[in-house]
Amino acid sequence: MKVLIIGKGGREHTLAWKIKQSPLVTEIFIAPGNGGTCELGTNIDINDHEVTLLVNFAKQQGIDFTIVGPESSLMAGVVDAFRSEGLNIFGPTKDAARIEGSKKYAKEIMQKYKIPTAQYQAFTDAEAAKNYIVSKKPPYVIKADNLAAGKGVIIAENIEEAYRAIDDILIKKIFNSHELIIEEFLDGIEFSFMCLVNGSYSVPLAVAQDFKRLQNDNRGPNTGGMGAISPSLQISQAQLDDAYQNIILPTIQGLVAESNPFTGVLYAGLIATKQGIKVIEFNARFGDPETEVVLPRLNSDLLAVLIDFNLGKKVALNWNQNYCLGVVLAAKGYPQNPKTGSQLQIETPKIGHVFHAGTLKNSNNELVINGGRVCVMVSLGNTPELARSNAYQCLKNIISKDLHYRTDIRF
Ligand code: AMP
Ligand code: GLY
Repeated sequence: MKVLIIGKGGREHTLAWKIKQSPLVTEIFIAPGNGGTCELGTNIDINDHEVTLLVNFAKQQGIDFTIVGPESSLMAGVVDAFRSEGLNIFGPTKDAARIEGSKKYAKEIMQKYKIPTAQYQAFTDAEAAKNYIVSKKPPYVIKADNLAAGKGVIIAENIEEAYRAIDDILIKKIFNSHELIIEEFLDGIEFSFMCLVNGSYSVPLAVAQDFKRLQNDNRGPNTGGMGAISPSLQISQAQLDDAYQNIILPTIQGLVAESNPFTGVLYAGLIATKQGIKVIEFNARFGDPETEVVLPRLNSDLLAVLIDFNLGKKVALNWNQNYCLGVVLAAKGYPQNPKTGSQLQIETPKIGHVFHAGTLKNSNNELVINGGRVCVMVSLGNTPELARSNAYQCLKNIISKDLHYRTDIRF
């Protein structure tokens, strides 16, 4: 079976690594892939949003199954285009992916189907947004309406910062959005709960936690994620059951009722507050770097599962009981201005995996930094401490002068 994976991050390297273990697979293609995926399959020089080129490639190559990584590809309509050509693809339609692509749409669905989330107001006018904020207490949570690679959320500690964020989004348009939402600040433990979803049928994946801030002790700006763990020691099974019953099920049933059924991975970014579990955001895809720590814990054949799942069959997932921890190595200057272009060396670690993200092999076959999040060092352990010490020990196998990472990723 020929499999195409769309995307170029650590998530896609992990998907390729896991799919490669399936006895069903004969060949893997990754579009466009990175300096790690080319070791597992063939990188194809097509970007994730180049839908027509992707469809043509899949038809010419006789691709049997396609998995979509990034939201940009979903929002470009890759699933709709593949399906209209009768090609088998795992992911939501463009319309269903709006649960991630438009924060306002997600909020409307949550309001309509009574899914607990922060209260909010949407604004297109900067003055109106500023007037609204004056009556509220800090911190202020301000979000650009559209996709911003995890960077379009500003938590402003005071009114000046909030005004600056409003101007940045609505006047300077730094995230290319003409709308923002301002929402109530929620306090609690955050966790990432991903589920395979096909209409109103769903199967939860192992829970994970992501470390979104750039620096130790959760300081600095939000990033795409600087580390991840699975499972969480802070969230109980009862809380997961609660989240599944009261958040995941009503959301997917709501989307079915809207005639906008979801297929693919629904990722709920949740927060356990004193008032119960609430939704921070939905994503319409596998999380990154969550995928990097969840899939190493999966014993089941992912390809077989996804094929059956797409056919509407019931599936069961089998997990190992290990703990898994991942540390992201980011380029200097990330997230604002990552410094790319310099070489790095990665020796294969004995007790972990290096999943590549922003890397490429140049014409001399040298590995070069090519993006903000460069790679993720992931290790398993039968205790949380072991998973952590393995990952940090293996970091020594990654040699570069232009990388930095958090030293406080832990369970
Ligand atoms: P998002 O892209 O919506 O997941 O937001 C990125 C990060 O901003 C989240 O992981 C939270 O840490 C933080 N955040 C977003 N919304 C809120 C909120 N309403 N209250 C507190 N923190 C938030
Ligand atoms: N780790 C956050 C995300 O995938 O959006």
